[in-house]
Amino acid sequence: MKKLYIETYGCQMNFADSEVVASILKDTFDLTKTIEEADLILINTCSIRDKAEQRIHKRLTELEALKKHHHGLQIGLLGCMAERMKEELLATEPVLDFIAGPDAYRSLPELIEKSSEGETQFNVLLSTDETYDDVMPVRYDTNGISAYISIMRGCNNFCSYCVVPYTRGRERSRDPKTILAEAEDLIQKGFKEVTLLGQNVNSYHWQENGVTVSFARLMEMVAQLSPTLRVRFATSHPKDISDELLETMARYDNICKYIHLPVQSGSNQVLKKMNRVYTREYYLERVRKIRELMPDCAISTDIIAGFCGETLEDHLQTLSIMREVGYEYAYMFKYSERGGTMSAKRFKDDIPDEEKTRRLEEIIALQGELSHESNLRDVGKTFTILVEGVSKRSPEYLYGRNSQNKVIIFPKENHQIGEYIEVTVTRCTPATLFA
Ligand code: SAH
Ligand code: SF4
Ligand code: F3S
Repeated sequence: MKKLYIETYGCQMNFADSEVVASILKDTFDLTKTIEEADLILINTCSIRDKAEQRIHKRLTELEALKKHHHGLQIGLLGCMAERMKEELLATEPVLDFIAGPDAYRSLPELIEKSSEGETQFNVLLSTDETYDDVMPVRYDTNGISAYISIMRGCNNFCSYCVVPYTRGRERSRDPKTILAEAEDLIQKGFKEVTLLGQNVNSYHWQENGVTVSFARLMEMVAQLSPTLRVRFATSHPKDISDELLETMARYDNICKYIHLPVQSGSNQVLKKMNRVYTREYYLERVRKIRELMPDCAISTDIIAGFCGETLEDHLQTLSIMREVGYEYAYMFKYSERGGTMSAKRFKDDIPDEEKTRRLEEIIALQGELSHESNLRDVGKTFTILVEGVSKRSPEYLYGRNSQNKVIIFPKENHQIGEYIEVTVTRCTPATLFA
């Protein structure tokens, strides 16, 4: 059989999609981890910020050299960049044999076949109902312990800065029966943790024969499959973080006490321009509710520094909301204007790059302090952790994660990967807990 090499960039959704792609091609290609022996290379791309796209352009230049030495090698580009810049890619990247958008993966066998005859092929049609629900993903890069399950696709929120609604199309949910079947299959194969994935998982919604399945209900059904299966989810939009969902989380020990709740900014004026549809006050009220129902719940976030028109006062509001919430962790970015989005059309990208960098550095420094404080609070506490692998620093140590998603490193002794064990945290660094 021919050999396939897949390289994935971007979010967890892309990693889950690559597993779908591997499944669609499994009858014609064997997967390889050695790029030099591949007959087909697929690059699954991300468009979220300019840097992400620059990285791909650079990678394609490297692959050009590889292609020169390998007669018959085919290279295909998948994912969000395919959708956003098909024309440009076709014109400027002759190394590509074909391009397929996120909803076009079922047509890959055809694109591969046709492009082998010489002409560059593409399919970037977005769908309103494709969820690949009958495709059982091939977990080709797995620790055998944790897996992603994609439960919905697309996004309807149109945050003004964001390309995702354009690259992934409209929101659609997957049939819960197929989600449960996939989770059951993972349990049978020995997996201990699933993460339910979507750009906005808590707007999951399924209706059939007059019965509605909400995201909270779906989580409950997955959690009930096995008390030793951990259930996580990503990402949730603050507007949909309902009491029903929080109450369900609180009720099940095996639903992890960790919520990624992107705030983006602490200023109402900026939130409004971003079209985030919530206020600082609403967001803080949701955080209060989380803490009331689950005092041990960890919260992480995403923050954008230097959005169009962001004043110093707005920036200070972001720092202050970070302190008020006391995030365990944050992903922090400089605003990157994306062509075609509302903010590119309507607002000026007017914060100079050095100023964006300065604000971002302040945000990163503050988050460093908050993460350290949170770690210090954990010293002396006992957690049940799921052992995930061998520590990078030493083969004598293993690492696992607690329900709050924090990594804890501990001496190996007789412990095994995939086991649940209780550990007591003895010390910490700003970034890591040791037990
Ligand atoms: N669906 C998720 C976010 C997906 S994108 C949500 O709404 O929470 C991940 C993060 O990338 C976003 O939360 C945002 O912080 C960041 N991001 C998106 N577009 C961006 C842009 N144009 N510039 C900088 N950061 C951006
Ligand atoms: Fe982008 Fe907003 Fe959708 Fe998240 S919710 S993917 S930030 S448009
Ligand atoms: Fe990137 Fe697309 Fe995900 S833009 S963040 S790969 S949905």
